[in-house]
Amino acid sequence: MRVLIVGGGGREHAIAASVVKSKKCDKLFCAPGNAGIAALAECVPIGVMEFDKLKEFAVKENIDFVIVAPDDPLAAGLVDVFEEAGIKAFGPRKNAAILEGSKAFSKDLMKKYDIPTAEYENFDDAAAALEYLKNVQYPIVLKADGLALGKGVLICMNADEAVAGVKEIMEDKKFGNAGNRMVIEQFMTGREVSVLTFTDGRTIRVMASAQDHKRAKDNDEGLNTGGMGTFSPSPFYTDEVHDFCMKNIYQPTVDAMAKEGRTFKGVIFFGLMLTPQGPKVLEYNARFGDPEAQVVLPRMENDLLEVMEACVDGTLDKIELSFKKDAAVCVVLASDGYPLSYEKGKVISGLDKFDGKEDYFCFHAGTKFSDDKKVLTNGGRVLGITALGSDLKEARRKAYEATEWVVFDNKYLRHDIGKAIDDV
Ligand code: GLY
Repeated sequence: MRVLIVGGGGREHAIAASVVKSKKCDKLFCAPGNAGIAALAECVPIGVMEFDKLKEFAVKENIDFVIVAPDDPLAAGLVDVFEEAGIKAFGPRKNAAILEGSKAFSKDLMKKYDIPTAEYENFDDAAAALEYLKNVQYPIVLKADGLALGKGVLICMNADEAVAGVKEIMEDKKFGNAGNRMVIEQFMTGREVSVLTFTDGRTIRVMASAQDHKRAKDNDEGLNTGGMGTFSPSPFYTDEVHDFCMKNIYQPTVDAMAKEGRTFKGVIFFGLMLTPQGPKVLEYNARFGDPEAQVVLPRMENDLLEVMEACVDGTLDKIELSFKKDAAVCVVLASDGYPLSYEKGKVISGLDKFDGKEDYFCFHAGTKFSDDKKVLTNGGRVLGITALGSDLKEARRKAYEATEWVVFDNKYLRHDIGKAIDDV
C-alpha cells in the first residue's frame, strides 16, 4: 500500500517507525513530517490543516491509506475529506472526533450512559458560571470546551482563582473559540493513567497503559506542556483496574458513540483518574497521545498498518494485540523556555549514536534540516528519547543515559520522568 501520515511531531515519527516495518507498506509519505521522519518517509511540505492540498496530493500519488494523527485536523473533518475522495483513512470522522473536540459533549455522553466521571456543569455564558462558583467546593476544575493544545484546563484552589479562570476562558478568550463554552467539574484525587485503545466502532482492543508528565519542571512544577516524558506500562494499572474499565468505561464509550450515530473508528485515548471510589474518566482524546505513542508503539508486536486497516474495515474482532514484556521510558529533550518562548535553529549533534541500537529510539518532534543538511531544533519539544528495558527502572536508566548522547544549545529536560515507579 501507498501510505500517507498526516502530522509532523514525535507521535508521527513513532507511527512512521512502526508503519514502515509493515509488510503491507510499499511506500510511505508524511505531511509535513520532520528531519527524523525524513529517514523513513518522503516528507511533503503540506500543513495538517491544508485539506485541499492534502486531498490533491493523495489523489495524485494514488495513496491507498491515510493516517490522520493530530487532534486539530481530526476535529475539523480531515478523515471525512479523504473518505469522500474514495481514500481509506484511519481516525474518527468529524462527528466522532467531537469526543475530544468538545469537553461539554463528552461530559454529557458520560452522564447519559453512566460512565464514571467527575460531577460537572456546562456553561455557555460567564455570568452563569460565576454564579455557579458561589456554591462549589475547592479545588475546582475549569475546562475550555474546545481544543486548546492541551492547555485549556485550569485547577483553581479558591474562589479568586476560579473567578479569574472563568474570565480568562470565556471573556478574555485566552484559548480562543475553545472558550465559547466551558465545563466546571469536581476536582478528583488519585493516580493519573493514560490508556490507548484501538476501536472499529464495535470492538475495542486495549494497547497499553502509560503515564505522562505534563508540567515543565521537576516535581510536577512549572507550566503545563504537551508532555515532558512518559513511561509504559503504568504499574498502577492493575488487572482489576483493567477489568473494571473494560466493563464500565471502554466498551460503554464505544457503544455510546455508536448509539448516538457517531460510530468511532480509530484510537481512543482514555485519560483516567484512579480515585478512591474507583477509576473515572478525566478526559477522552481521539488520537494517539504524544509522547504516549513514543512508549506504547515501540512495545507493540503487531503489524500496525494491519491493525489500523482492521479499524477502518470493521474487522478488529479478528485481531489480538500483543506487546513486548519490556517496559519503555521516554524523556523529552526540549528547548529551554518551552512552553513559553524559546530559540530555534540550534544544531543537533549525536543523533548517529542511536544507529543500529534496537532498544533505543530517538523520535524527532521539532526538528528540520538546514540548507546544508544539518539537523536543527525547530520547536519547543525537540526530541523524544525512548529506551526499552526489562523493567521500568532499567528502561528509565537507559533513557536517561541516551539523553546524554544528544547535544544542542539550550537543551532542557526533566530529571524525574518515571520517578513514581519508585513508590511501587
Ligand atoms: N500527552 C498528552 C496528549 O497527547 O494529549
